Amino acid sequence: MNRRDFLKTFAASLAMGTVSGISNVVAGESWKKEFSIALKEKPWLLGYEGISGHDFGVTALTQKGQLPDDLRGVLYRNGPAQHVVGDMRYHHWFDGDGLVNAFRFSEDGVTHQGRFVRTAKFQSEAKAGHAIEQGFGTALLSLRSPSNNDALNVANINVITHAGELLALWEGGSAYRLDPDTLETLGLKTWSADTKGLPFSAHPRKDANGTLWNFGYATSFGALIVYQIAADGTLKNVDLIKLPYSSMVHDFMITEKYLVFILPPFHYDTSRQGSFLDHFEWYPERGGVALVIDKNDSSKVQEIEIPAFWVFHFANAYDEPDGSIAFSCPIYRTPNIMTQGFRNVMRGREISSLGSRFMSARLHPGKRSFTYEEVPEAAASEFPRIDDRRQGVRARFSFLMKSSGELSHAGFDRICRLDQKAGALTFYQFGAQEQAEEHVFVANPRSDQEGQGWLVGTSLDYNRQRTSLNVFDAEKPENGPIARFEAAFPLPFGLHGNFVPTGS
Ligand SMILES: [Fe+2]
Repeated sequence: MNRRDFLKTFAASLAMGTVSGISNVVAGESWKKEFSIALKEKPWLLGYEGISGHDFGVTALTQKGQLPDDLRGVLYRNGPAQHVVGDMRYHHWFDGDGLVNAFRFSEDGVTHQGRFVRTAKFQSEAKAGHAIEQGFGTALLSLRSPSNNDALNVANINVITHAGELLALWEGGSAYRLDPDTLETLGLKTWSADTKGLPFSAHPRKDANGTLWNFGYATSFGALIVYQIAADGTLKNVDLIKLPYSSMVHDFMITEKYLVFILPPFHYDTSRQGSFLDHFEWYPERGGVALVIDKNDSSKVQEIEIPAFWVFHFANAYDEPDGSIAFSCPIYRTPNIMTQGFRNVMRGREISSLGSRFMSARLHPGKRSFTYEEVPEAAASEFPRIDDRRQGVRARFSFLMKSSGELSHAGFDRICRLDQKAGALTFYQFGAQEQAEEHVFVANPRSDQEGQGWLVGTSLDYNRQRTSLNVFDAEKPENGPIARFEAAFPLPFGLHGNFVPTGS
């Protein structure tokens, strides 16, 4: 099938796969009760409680410490936030409707605003007063099987800016355009007529020349759609890459020469029942595959066998002079944290442990070899970020959220700076009742040195029921926050965000 025919067929069908309701799940209503009972015993569940679909107006946050003069702009964050619709509580953390938060930095301090993305799903369910569509991990019989990808789209994973547009990203469908000043939803983003409605994943990567690379995985078709978008926002190219098997792919890597995809042995099986997530099965004995695609000629695709591991996010990737590709990331023995942990937490049960290890790996496309070593000091970490000026080239520093193991649950209580050259990890530990989320690196505009800038992100003090925005010196996180801005309310735990400097 050629590209045009494929896109036509694809757009007319459900790219995420066939999903059917199942009866062997406990009704959503009982999960709601179970969660509210558990919350009384386990205050750390607060970040997973969710809110009804109300927006947050602009409020000034209470400041402690000094905001650096050169740190001006907006931190946008996105995440699942409405977990109960009508009487039904979702069965997976990833199902909640996306709430985009804006933390605006000025000489007067930091303000917060939050607004739900008005997806088609959010709007129709708000109007009806009950859940209508299935979710990524929720497939009750009372819910409708999706007719297309965007029927389940909750726009809840990431938020980026490109070519002046603010985009709320999901994984299985279109991006949603938002007004950067008001957070109002403007509608679905369409890159071109023949890519309308196709999956556009939540972790695009930007080259040094401003080109935005992204992908979408087309489960039913065993293919990847690869997007190349110019700095001015025009779609330069879209390619279809046939996969050896349909896997779940959350993030990818770019180097100067290649696009690199890791396909964990998490196989999509059309014969399985239940939600989209339920259609995947873990086959560790089959091992995984790394796909290395030439950026300048997407017909040059190499498949390299790799061991079985699950991965959500990558820190850094780059080309070595010997032709190999070096990369680093947290990995897991299985995807259990997603298949079980983020289900359990929705009914108030424990996520036993994060269980990630940190891998420094090397792929050699010419030799078809893969080697790796563990970085033990970075075990139990997630949400790796780098100085984004080093995307695709060697980065010395990664910034990670880590679990000390001292919490009663698998939350993050450390923010870390990993120096891979020196093999050293420094960190700040949050308070005992505080769970931290992704912190992003913001470059100091006065310096072009890697790692000189700030780490900016949120944490929830579940005892005091307040969310704070934290600012660390990225070179010395161990010194603790240089400034903190506290909201008078808790925000639901989110996923990813990005900082947009003023004037950029
Ligand atoms: Fe992610």
